[in-house]
Amino acid sequence: MSGARVEAPAAKPAGAKNSAAKPGAAKRGGKAVTPNTGERTIVAFCCSECAYAAADAAANARASLPPTVRLVLMPCTGRVSPLHLLSALADGADGAMVAGCLEGQCHYREGNFQAIDRVAFVQRLLESVGVEPERVRMFTMSAGDPPRFVAAVREMDRVIGSLPPLGRA
Ligand code: FES
Repeated sequence: MSGARVEAPAAKPAGAKNSAAKPGAAKRGGKAVTPNTGERTIVAFCCSECAYAAADAAANARASLPPTVRLVLMPCTGRVSPLHLLSALADGADGAMVAGCLEGQCHYREGNFQAIDRVAFVQRLLESVGVEPERVRMFTMSAGDPPRFVAAVREMDRVIGSLPPLGRA
């Protein structure tokens, strides 16, 4: 079974403000920045403005992150579709998380609210087919709060680690 597919960053959402790209962010776009241990995999779709910046700061501070987490840089969580989440699980991930800006602070106005709704939709979908809904979660944080990012990925790793392997046909 292959590992989770890493998505290339998508285009900015319709109506997005023009904001200056962070130096280095484009170079990292779409690349997993954490090695996979092969035991279990969690795909973390991170918005570039807050969550990925918090992850970057955590990495620069040499925070210990679970090796199970693979980061995917997205311009905004509003670009994460239910298909991204379901594809991650179908392609081998044991869990998928969406990490974006704090509520009301999305740089594209409503992207994180759209993501919250989509994550809830996917959770209902998973539950309806007998899959644990907690395999997909939404987290919000500010760019200046790397500990919150670290806590989110550790929480996700703890929850996924407590679940049985995800059966696939
Ligand atoms: Fe961070 Fe939209 S830019 S969630």
